[in-house]
Amino acid sequence: METLELDPSLLLGVKEIDEQHKELVDLINHSRAILQSDQDLTELAQIFHRLEQLIIHHFSAEELLMVKYKYPGLQHHKEMHDISVRRTFDLDVSHITSDPKVGEALVNQLSEWLFKHIKEDADMVSYLKKQGAC
Ligand SMILES: [Fe+2]
Ligand SMILES: [Fe+2]
Repeated sequence: METLELDPSLLLGVKEIDEQHKELVDLINHSRAILQSDQDLTELAQIFHRLEQLIIHHFSAEELLMVKYKYPGLQHHKEMHDISVRRTFDLDVSHITSDPKVGEALVNQLSEWLFKHIKEDADMVSYLKKQGAC
């Protein structure tokens, strides 16, 4: 499993959003580090819980910015968030502490999701920047 990195093309230019994406990347990397070492997998379950909370917080921060700056694509973007939240909560973490393969599959799934999510944010962020929300 490779460590995720936010290369410059994935830094979108609105500080609050970039910092939250970075925090999500860091947590996913922390999960990988636990799986690659022999650390206690109960810590992994805690990190997944923290990731869920952070994703919800991040989506609501983006949605507040979209409302504040009257982003025309708000509804579509919010629908993408809602689908992501449903998928995240669908992840079956019940065997995470007993089987490292479960953790590995979840971490891979979340990594893929995060990069897709950041790319989906690009249009919204370029609109927000034009409106001065940096
Ligand atoms: Fe985002
Ligand atoms: Fe988003």
